[in-house]
Amino acid sequence: MKIFADTAYLKEIRSWLDFGVIDGVTTNPSIMLAGGVYDLRHGAQEIAALLGDKPLSVEVVSDDTDEMRRQALEMADWAPNIVVKIPVITTQGEPCLGVIANLKRAGVKVNATACLSFNQAMLAAKSGATYVSLFAGRISDEGADAAEVIRRTAEWLNAWDMPTRIIVGSIRETVNVQEAALAGAHVVTVPPKFLRQMIDHKYSRFTVAQFLADGQSAAQRMDALGLSVGANGGGAKKGAASRTK
Ligand code: E4P
Repeated sequence: MKIFADTAYLKEIRSWLDFGVIDGVTTNPSIMLAGGVYDLRHGAQEIAALLGDKPLSVEVVSDDTDEMRRQALEMADWAPNIVVKIPVITTQGEPCLGVIANLKRAGVKVNATACLSFNQAMLAAKSGATYVSLFAGRISDEGADAAEVIRRTAEWLNAWDMPTRIIVGSIRETVNVQEAALAGAHVVTVPPKFLRQMIDHKYSRFTVAQFLADGQSAAQRMDALGLSVGANGGGAKKGAASRTK
């Protein structure tokens, strides 16, 4: 399973790339706005360059399908790793499937976004989307079981050997990440604040502090006895322990 960062903050993207955790980045107009990215092209190109060959999803900003297609073709030229997000329907409920199919024929990778049901994801996959974004948090907002929608979509894609990959977004709590992962998501896209919460644990902190204190006490005792000790417990000359303090 892959993990993407759901953010436009370069500092966070750099960190999580350095940690070896993220395989890509997703954005949307709200994320770009929150990250202070007003010049979409410049902002997207900066993130795309950081990512190398890892994918960056950037969303079109239009409710008109012809304009979506035009913007998508332009965005796809910004960098080789750009995946264009096309909403699965317009604000009026018109399908954007024709745009997805057309872009697929033009060789543009599409992330069919704002999918809130199995049926939407299935149709977007049929029209040639590289990714379908299932919005777990928003599915739950509507009272549905997000894990079940993810599981059924993953099973269907697998049963029919469909190449489309599921990205689960709209993560609201760290537990949503594990729910999506265990339900069969191919990708979970996570805001960095949750990635930080996922790695932290108060009892891990306590455990690390306990071992550090005991290790330091042992080194002090060795020093007091005039015995030599190295960082690995041996091999260094007298005085090494105090130098490690
Ligand atoms: C990611 O691709 C989505 O755009 C994002 O996760 C949506 O999150 P939200 O439902 O919190 O706006």
